[in-house]
Amino acid sequence: MTKPVRIGIIGLGTVGSGVVRLLVESADHIQRHAGCPIVVAKAVVKDVAKVRSVSVPIDTLSSDIRNISGDPTISVAVLLVGGLEPARSMMVELLQNGKDVVTANKALLAEHGPELFALARTQGRSIAFEAAVAGGIPIVAAISECLAANRIESIRGILNGTSNFILTRMEEDGSSYADALKLAQSKGFAEADPSMDVDGTDATQKLAILSHLAFGVWVPWAEIPRMGIDGLDVDLLHYAGELGYRIRLVAVASRGSAGLTMRVAPALVKIGTPLAETRGAYNAVSIVGDAVGRMFFHGLGAGQMPTASAVVADIIDTVVGRAAITFRTTGVLCDPDANADRIQNMDAHQRHFLRIRASDRPGVLAKITGILGDFRISIASMIQHDAIEQGASIAPDAGVPLVIMTHACSSSDVAKAIEAIDGSDVVRGRSVCLSVLDERAE
Ligand code: NDP
Ligand code: HSE
Repeated sequence: MTKPVRIGIIGLGTVGSGVVRLLVESADHIQRHAGCPIVVAKAVVKDVAKVRSVSVPIDTLSSDIRNISGDPTISVAVLLVGGLEPARSMMVELLQNGKDVVTANKALLAEHGPELFALARTQGRSIAFEAAVAGGIPIVAAISECLAANRIESIRGILNGTSNFILTRMEEDGSSYADALKLAQSKGFAEADPSMDVDGTDATQKLAILSHLAFGVWVPWAEIPRMGIDGLDVDLLHYAGELGYRIRLVAVASRGSAGLTMRVAPALVKIGTPLAETRGAYNAVSIVGDAVGRMFFHGLGAGQMPTASAVVADIIDTVVGRAAITFRTTGVLCDPDANADRIQNMDAHQRHFLRIRASDRPGVLAKITGILGDFRISIASMIQHDAIEQGASIAPDAGVPLVIMTHACSSSDVAKAIEAIDGSDVVRGRSVCLSVLDERAE
């Protein structure tokens, strides 16, 4: 029998447990693809005494990374610890000790990718990271290998499963934001610090990684304009629904003559279009390549087994030597200075969805529409429900929601108009302004 390849796993949480389960339960199938058995020789966790959903022989388990980095019989290390530290130090130690690394940690790559990839190259090792973006969807391989003949023009997608799960629960069964987030956490979709999911950080980090693969430009993720779903509420989703739209957290990167435009923000997408029909923890990525045209990828973007599927595929690729070739030939994240066509905050010309809490008194509507008119913003449709008729008890000065869909207009004009409206005496609280991604633009 072919000699087994011994691997080490650091982290046996949601993803790590799924990887062990897959390696054990699908051992024969995986062996056929890898050409040899793959065995978990050692595992490292934080708390050795913790009760786990997978059983790992006690003598293989420790809390000391050196049990893997210092073991010459282990060639592949699978790093499934989240966050920056100690994950970064662990990756450095593994590479310096000659291990090829597989990881799902996008925060680490988005923050320290250039230095870690450079170290791997110096050491003659590879880093495989399919699971770091869009969970089970093979989007990293698609961009860096399968679409290699294309000049990529744009990427648009839903890259955070937790946010999408929360929006879907709020929209489909009226769950509160807090309850939906708790459920996402219990299902293992959320990051250890879930604010990274809901404030758009996680999707932005994934967009930075994909954009580097697609455009060869390294944009520090923190420079990408970002807004999360944490300021949304059920009413907003219902109003969008009344107008025929759903709200999704959409990541966009596109290359134009002025450079690269990137952003992550909630946006309205027309019901029936692929992004609007992406529900629950599913992710979706639409890519336009100059030769292939538009491609659409859809699949589970978070969760134990979909993510384990991507990690195990990377382990197999590493064992058979494919990861080393891809890593060497694609030059991923090796040139932090490759930022020639830096990010541009282009003024987008599109429709906008506004929710303004207006005072319920004469002349208010005229004042708001007047301000919009001053900024050349034309109204396509408007909703204002009669709160009393609907039985709602509105506090005397809380303001009544006025929802406006504009015709296509400049996003910077809308921002200025909203600032003027919010600064006037006819509104209560801050208005919400979201862009509308019309179908022809998808
Ligand atoms: P979990 O929090 O479930 O698991 C983290 C694991 O890391 C735990 O087993 C923990 O040990 C271990 N760990 C933490 N600190 C240390 C340490 N100092 N030394 C050794 N081990 C340590 O995270 P997930 O499995 O959900 O995520 C892992 C990575 O995968 C993250 O980078 C995440 O962003 C990424 N990812 C997650 C997805 C998901 O759906 N969950 C999807 C795609 C990517 P112990 O068990 O003892 O506490
Ligand atoms: N927390 C991440 C998400 C996990 O919800 O998408 C997958 O990267």
